[in-house]
Amino acid sequence: MKALILSGGKGTRLRPLTYTGAKQLVPVANKPILWHGIERIVAAGITDIGIIISPETGEEVKAKTGTGARFGANITYIIQPEPAGLADAVKVARDFLGNFPFIMYLGDNLIENQLTPFLETFKQQHLDALILLRPVSNPSAFGVAKVDAKGRVLQLVEKPKQPPSNLALVGIYFFSSAIHEAIDQIQPSARGELEITDAIQRLIDLQKAVEARIIEGWWIDTGKKDDLLEANRIILDTQLTADIKGELDSQSKAIGRVQIGSGTKVINSAIRGPVIVGSNCYIENCFIGPYTSIADGVVLTEVDLEHSVILQDAKIRGIHQRIVDSVIGQRSELGVASQRPKAIRFMIGDDCQIELA
Ligand code: G1P
Repeated sequence: MKALILSGGKGTRLRPLTYTGAKQLVPVANKPILWHGIERIVAAGITDIGIIISPETGEEVKAKTGTGARFGANITYIIQPEPAGLADAVKVARDFLGNFPFIMYLGDNLIENQLTPFLETFKQQHLDALILLRPVSNPSAFGVAKVDAKGRVLQLVEKPKQPPSNLALVGIYFFSSAIHEAIDQIQPSARGELEITDAIQRLIDLQKAVEARIIEGWWIDTGKKDDLLEANRIILDTQLTADIKGELDSQSKAIGRVQIGSGTKVINSAIRGPVIVGSNCYIENCFIGPYTSIADGVVLTEVDLEHSVILQDAKIRGIHQRIVDSVIGQRSELGVASQRPKAIRFMIGDDCQIELA
């Protein structure tokens, strides 16, 4: 069994963060979302992993993620020259996949469930495809499935205007080598992509064994800002353990589950978990509230912050209104220039969102 993780794409919905990097490297609880997926796959016993990368962001994904040794896996990087669809990615990975069955995993997805039980079902029942579905309130934004009472898939449609059910296709699929033949038989969709949804529909038409399991636990697809904050909240809530390596002075306190990396200094501040702070940060006269992730090298002085994600080397100084529900990009600077500010000065990149709430 192999795994194919898709980590290409342009990440348009996460701009401006994705102008300078791959969306799959945006951190959730200070770890790239892609790495959370790799860990899940390795936990299911699959260590031969291919990662699909794009010419634009591939080098960064490769440089950061490495050979796989840190995960106990062996990673092969495969370039998809154009973002021509999920089924095109499988085509591009044909040599890597050979005739092995594989799990296909969209690099910006994460689910609460472990993968092992699904893998067992897939193997024991000799399926050609096992897909995961989850009820959602906006099925038109996803691939949508119609299933019978036994879990057999009757019909699949990609982003339908009139969805046949509220069951969305989660970005985690199990396939036998039969998928390659199905992919060879489909045409690009209206959006010009070879859709994996159409390839699975083709398997159904060919009377292959295709089944679905409905998951009830959380599923996050970190495509947009609020999804990213939600993913951050869930991971901090369910996975963070207290661990303080940095220094807190006698005026500071860390309450609840707080992780602080080495070389970080906390002065006259209160941190109420779950909160993760990276290494070599400087935090003075601050309140850091729950569900906040602060990456390495961040400087915060006189700041009140909660439910936010602050990326590497950002600096925030003297903002006395509480900062909430925010994502602050790498090396950004937010500050106050005078005692009683009367004006607001900006130097903001393309596609940023600023809201005075
Ligand atoms: C893709 C799939 C879609 C699936 C979704 C899950 O959509 O085409 O069927 O429901 O991933 O994240 P995309 O993210 O390319 O819009």
